[in-house]
Amino acid sequence: MASTTCLTLPSGRRMPQLGLGTWLSPPGIVQHAIEVAVKNGYRHIDCAYFYDNEGAIGEGIEKVLKEGLVKREDLFVVSKLWNSFHAPQDVKPACLETLRLLRLDYLDLYLIHSPMGIKNVKGDLLPQKDGKVQLDDVDYVDTWKAMEKLVDEGLVKSIGVANFSESQLERLLSGARIKPDVLQVERHIYQTQIKLIAFTKAKRMALTGYSPLTSPKRPFPPGKLDPKNGMEDPVVKEIAKKHGKSPAQILIRFNIQAGIATIPKSETPAHIIENSKVFDFCLTEDEVKKLESLHWGARAVAWDIVGMGEHKYYPFKTE
Ligand SMILES: NC(=O)c1ccc[n+]([C@@H]2O[C@H](COP(=O)([O-])OP(=O)(O)OC[C@H]3O[C@@H](n4cnc5c(N)ncnc54)[C@H](OP(=O)(O)O)[C@@H]3O)[C@@H](O)[C@H]2O)c1
Repeated sequence: MASTTCLTLPSGRRMPQLGLGTWLSPPGIVQHAIEVAVKNGYRHIDCAYFYDNEGAIGEGIEKVLKEGLVKREDLFVVSKLWNSFHAPQDVKPACLETLRLLRLDYLDLYLIHSPMGIKNVKGDLLPQKDGKVQLDDVDYVDTWKAMEKLVDEGLVKSIGVANFSESQLERLLSGARIKPDVLQVERHIYQTQIKLIAFTKAKRMALTGYSPLTSPKRPFPPGKLDPKNGMEDPVVKEIAKKHGKSPAQILIRFNIQAGIATIPKSETPAHIIENSKVFDFCLTEDEVKKLESLHWGARAVAWDIVGMGEHKYYPFKTE
């Protein structure tokens, strides 16, 4: 079994560094992925209402708990409040729906999925008009106040945000009664987030890096911000060969060694197992520098589709 290390959050809770990503893991398959992951030492599962598979993940979680493969208190289950539910009165119902789907009575961590609200249109998570998403400029500080109440009510143990810029996080931190435990952002060799990692460390928050493998099968069309598949990068391949590891393991280890959590997605049992074997070797300082030098600011998930880039709170404008 893989051992996994943990990060201590500002709230004092502990978050396993390695988690299983679930975006694009289809219902019918993701249940088994959860079981394979738990059997191979994963304790952190990254979910989101938007991924439209929380019901199936709930079945997987229920199975591993019923079979005694893991205790609830040893799992770290994360979900995210979708952009349609930023209005304060919509936050608790959205959280309760996620809990119902996941078959849980609390979440370990609930994140605001992005700072950008969109109109709450029943049955449509990306309501569009003339080819553009219907944006809503509800202030994420007001959303945060409703998130704090979820902690008060015991529905979630920790709260945090995803895809916030440094200045948005500063603004949130300045008024928050409960400080965010975690910032989740894209982080890999082409988007190293050196500045944001230092910022969160200075604030004693934890950072979770998503798309560690550069999200090779993301559904968005290729564009100028589209990174190559990092697992095919010659620098990564060379380092992998030296360590007798796979390129995926090098990319995951790159995040682990940065002192952040990371959540590679896989629905393929052999990959899930392979991705867990990242605690038995170390990259040298020189190798880390070589990998960091591959940064070119690419984003696999730029959040600028169907007009989202025009949002008042679009987080990546200043880049
Ligand atoms: N907060 C946010 O806005 C946000 C955005 C994006 C992602 N996320 C989270 O982060 C997770 C990871 O990011 P991601 O899904 O974008 O991409 P990723 O983890 O970088 O890459 C996943 C892809 O790599 C493949 N893969 C996994 N392990 C492999 C291995 N050992 N060898 C070869 N291929 C391998 C997977 O295929 P198989 O399934 O066949 O293994 C899948 O196609 C997501 O699932 C989600 O939970 C959050």
